[in-house]
Amino acid sequence: MSDKVMQVQEEALAAIEQATTLEQLQQVKIQYLGKKGSIQALMSEMKALPQEKKPAFGQKVNVCKDTVAKVLESKEEVLKIAALAGKLEAEKIDITLAGDTHKLGTTHPLVMIQQEIEDLFLSMGYKVAEGPEVEQDYYNFELANTPKDHPARDMQDTFYIDPNTLLRTHTTAMQMRELEKAKGQVPIKLICPGKVYRRDDDDATHSHQFMQCEGLVVGENITLADLKGTLEYMASTMFGQGRTVRFRPSYFPFTEPSVEVDVSCPFCNGKGCNVCKGSGWIEILGAGMVHPNVLRMNGFDPEKYSGFAFGVGLERVAMLKYGIDDIRNFYTNDVRFLKIFDRFD
Ligand code: PHE
Repeated sequence: MSDKVMQVQEEALAAIEQATTLEQLQQVKIQYLGKKGSIQALMSEMKALPQEKKPAFGQKVNVCKDTVAKVLESKEEVLKIAALAGKLEAEKIDITLAGDTHKLGTTHPLVMIQQEIEDLFLSMGYKVAEGPEVEQDYYNFELANTPKDHPARDMQDTFYIDPNTLLRTHTTAMQMRELEKAKGQVPIKLICPGKVYRRDDDDATHSHQFMQCEGLVVGENITLADLKGTLEYMASTMFGQGRTVRFRPSYFPFTEPSVEVDVSCPFCNGKGCNVCKGSGWIEILGAGMVHPNVLRMNGFDPEKYSGFAFGVGLERVAMLKYGIDDIRNFYTNDVRFLKIFDRFD
C-alpha cells in the first residue's frame, strides 16, 4: 500500500517538473492536492486498512502531501519569476529610438500684443469689452457723432453689407455699445480690442483687415491730463521705461479736442534715427476727450461727466516693437515668420 503513496508522489513530482506555465501548475495542484485530488483519495483508502496499519500509512500520506506542496510552491516561485521576465521582455521599449515630434504652434504676435495691453489695463482696473465685427451703421458711425452725410465718413472707406450693416471700421463701435449699455452710470473704464475692416488696397503698411484696441474712461473730472498720464504709462510698459508722449491737434468726430499721439522713439531715445525719420517721435495712436454729443446721445450729461478715449493699431505696435516692415506678414501666416515669436512667448 505504501508503494502506492510513493507512486502518487512520484507522479505528482514529475507533473510538477513538466509544468511550464502557472496555469499548468495550477492544474497539477488541483489534480494532486485538491479536495478531489489523488492524495486526498489516498486518505480515503486509509479507512479500509486494519487499525494497526492506519498510523504509519497516515504519516506517509502526510509526508507525501507536504513534499508535493513544498515542491509545487517552489516551482510556482520559479514560474512566477519567469512569467514576469517574459512580460518585461515583451513590453520592453527602446528609449533610444527616435520619437515622433509634434510641432507646437506659437502665439500670434498680434495676440501677444493684445494680451499685453489687456494685462496692462486689467491691472489698472479696466474691463475688457467685446462686440460684433459685423456691425450696425448706428454703432459704428451714428452714435459716434458721425451721421450719414458727415464728411468724416470718408476717412474710413467702409465695407457695407447693406445700407445699415457693415464690417466695423473701428473698435469705437464697441465703445458706443458699452456707453449705451451703461445707461448713464459712471464710472466707465474699459478697453475693447478687436479686428476692424477698411476698403484699403493691401501694401506694406495697409491691410483691409487689421486690429485695434480702444480705451474709454467716463466719470467726473476726467481730463486730458488723465489721458496723457495713461498713455505715457502704456507707452513705457509697451516700449520700455522712460517713454514720453506728445499730443498734436487732430480731428475725430467723436472726440473734442482730438489729438494724434506720438511716443518718443524707443530706438534712438528721441535723438532721431531712420525709424523715426530723424524726428525723435513715432505716431502711434489717435485719442481725445469724448465729444459732448456722444455723451448726450448715450444718455450722459456732458455738464456733469467727461471722458477720454484712445485707439491704437495693434499691427503698428507690433511692427515697432519687433521691427517688422510689412503688415502683410501678420495675415499670410508663413510659419517661418510666426516661428520667430516662439522666443517672446
Ligand atoms: N477710432 C479712431 C480710428 O480708428 C481712433 C480713435 C479712437 C480716436 C478713440 C480717438 C478716440 O482712427
